[in-house]
Amino acid sequence: PLHLHQIIPLDFSSLGTLPDSHAWPKDDGDDDRDHGSGSCIPIIDLMDPNAMELIGLACEKWGAFQLKNHGIPLSVIEEVEEEAKRFFALPADRKLKALRSTAGATGYGRARISPFFPKHMWHEGFTIMGSPCDDAKKIWPNDHARFCNKVENYQKQMKMLAEKLTEMILRLLGIGEEEKGWIGSSNLCEAVQLNFYPCCPEPNRAMGLAPHTDTSLLTILHQSQTNGLQIFKEGAGWVPVHPHPNTLVVHTGDILHILSNSRFRCALHRVMVNSARQRYSVAYFYGPPLDYVLSPFLLSSFPRFRSLSVKEYVGIKAKNLGEALSLITIIQN
Ligand code: SIN
Ligand code: FE2
Repeated sequence: PLHLHQIIPLDFSSLGTLPDSHAWPKDDGDDDRDHGSGSCIPIIDLMDPNAMELIGLACEKWGAFQLKNHGIPLSVIEEVEEEAKRFFALPADRKLKALRSTAGATGYGRARISPFFPKHMWHEGFTIMGSPCDDAKKIWPNDHARFCNKVENYQKQMKMLAEKLTEMILRLLGIGEEEKGWIGSSNLCEAVQLNFYPCCPEPNRAMGLAPHTDTSLLTILHQSQTNGLQIFKEGAGWVPVHPHPNTLVVHTGDILHILSNSRFRCALHRVMVNSARQRYSVAYFYGPPLDYVLSPFLLSSFPRFRSLSVKEYVGIKAKNLGEALSLITIIQN
């Protein structure tokens, strides 16, 4: 068996082939792994007077969209990408100083979904919840302030954008003020996830990040200028989400799927790797506080999901991944 330091970081630069531990079985009927079928998720201009309606349509059809004129200064995004690059370039022993424990929430390590898959992903991650400073101090004992400041700045900007989008989306769902009280609160669930996908000797047999939906209400993702992200669309298969300069990807998560009584999709997505270019991405996850009770709005027909707290749903997802939504689905007679 591989030891942890052989799994993360992916210290296989000397190998010309993929270790068996990282070789995924070929996906039947999915030979054309990175071409999609010509379709792509909508690009929405947040300054467009119709932005709200367009976001609604994108969430119904795709569960994802790309957002331009989002209002976040380019420098804030570039600086956090730079910090991610600086972090992942560190020698293994430095990164492992911030190793996330099995039960832990923050730190460096494998993707959280890893235990559900028999093979390892070609990926390293760094999860930040709350202040980035404690983990940064472990990694840079004498020089953590830079990382800390850049990440905090990013968190603040992303939170404002997430609030703006959430306001719009809940308005589309016809949700009243009394249900929106949590939006500005300080105890809501948020996290930043830095991702790194090194160049891979055999990209067609490897997996950057295995298919999953996000648990969040919504996720705002910055991807570096390297392809890899794909979204699954019924009828079209895996559709690539090509990076556009100064454009952020927004995913609808499980929580919004539940709140919208399944009107909004939560997109299944994955990340492929390539042999020539490494990929970086920075995800910001946003959702209501853990004690917030999720119950579907839009009850013109019938509730598709039973009511439960965010905390309970997160627990079910952590144990069941892809089955979580069906486990809370109400069976109609
Ligand atoms: C994800 O967080 O699921 C996607 C990460 C990426 O696009 O690199
Ligand atoms: Fe994701």
